[in-house]
Amino acid sequence: MTGPKRILTVFGTRPEAIKLFPLLHALARDESFASVVCVSAQHRSMLDQVLEIAEIVPDHDLDLMRPDQSLDALTAALLTGLGRVMDAQKPDWVVVQGDTATAMAGTLAAYYRKIPVAHVEAGLRSGNIHHPWPEEVNRKIIGGIAALHAAPTETAAAALRGENVDPATIHVTGNTVIDALHWIVARMDKQPALVAGLAGIEARFAGKRIIGVTSHRRENFGDGMQGIARAIKRLAARPDIAVIFPVHLNPNVRSVMEAELGDRANVALIEPLDYPHFARLMAISTLMLTDSGGVQEEAPALGKPVLVMRETTERPEGVEAGTARLVGTDPDRIVAETVRLLDDAGAYAAMARAHNPFGDGHAAGRIVELLAR
Ligand code: UD1
Ligand code: UDP
Repeated sequence: MTGPKRILTVFGTRPEAIKLFPLLHALARDESFASVVCVSAQHRSMLDQVLEIAEIVPDHDLDLMRPDQSLDALTAALLTGLGRVMDAQKPDWVVVQGDTATAMAGTLAAYYRKIPVAHVEAGLRSGNIHHPWPEEVNRKIIGGIAALHAAPTETAAAALRGENVDPATIHVTGNTVIDALHWIVARMDKQPALVAGLAGIEARFAGKRIIGVTSHRRENFGDGMQGIARAIKRLAARPDIAVIFPVHLNPNVRSVMEAELGDRANVALIEPLDYPHFARLMAISTLMLTDSGGVQEEAPALGKPVLVMRETTERPEGVEAGTARLVGTDPDRIVAETVRLLDDAGAYAAMARAHNPFGDGHAAGRIVELLAR
């Protein structure tokens, strides 16, 4: 008699935790699986915020985050640390998500042990290894190794087929981020107190139109971050708007934003929000300005226009559907595109349309079925 399949799920950052908790919930409900969770803790408090709300208690916590960590030191520690956990757990499958250092190193460590890898959110490609950096290369490495590719969309599946990945291993499942968003919105409806922490800022900015901002991409460090900060400063000079900006804990982001925006009356620079509060921020925002991957997927689901402060995107579905627009990091362009949405009701209405090009909220169930085969 064979026992349950051992699934080792490996992750380390906020967005991986958000996109994997629906799968972890589904695995935990299914007796045909023994689900083991290993966090690298490449992020610490931003990861823990998600683990807490999703009630995930890791079996292994490598606690690898170091201040302002370099990619090579992080990757080396991940490879040896994750390898040790795999040796101890001897899983049938390793599950990774997305394109972080943890996902890439987890995939390599599994490959070195001939353990098959299931890749959640497979097939995203910008076509430029410097944008986003280093994520484009991380996900290409994972794509070359994984035995099961859970592609969120048909576009992602086609990108994998274009790289000669065996079509029998590619499955369009939708993106688990929509499962996560549905779960959190349902929780917020039942427990409004979960988002009470924004009440003070909401009262302070009553009557103004809110712009929600996030920014953290490594390729934007330096000039790109400066451009974003200058654009926000100019936008915040308008009396009718207010900016709410939960600032990523990466010191390369914080130093620029605090120096440029710390003393602006219409800008609230705040600590990273937990997922319910961030969902609330998206809900009260007129539009989102972001360089985030996950926010590009969530904003269309909530009917919020999203201006993407990047030169490329691996998520063309939002742009094609008209709810996302690439605006780069040049302050003139960011300001012009934002002002157009603020002042031209027709342009705003054309973008503010709720739809779900990234999934239907049932991706996790499909991935569990694939793992069960
Ligand atoms: C990482 C991922 C990126 C992902 C992003 C999501 C890599 C190479 N990068 O980028 O793909 O889009 O997470 O946010 O895998 N820090 C804290 N506390 C935290 C989290 C981060 O203090 O909870 C600070 C630390 O100084 C840390 C630094 O941020 O060294 C950078 O963290 P790291 O995970 O290396 O990179 P991110 O820029 O967050
Ligand atoms: N998010 C959050 N709190 C914040 C900012 C973002 O919970 O203060 C969520 C957001 O809803 C999305 C994810 O974090 O699901 C995006 O993470 P991030 O932008 O750090 O990474 P990326 O998606 O770009 O890899």
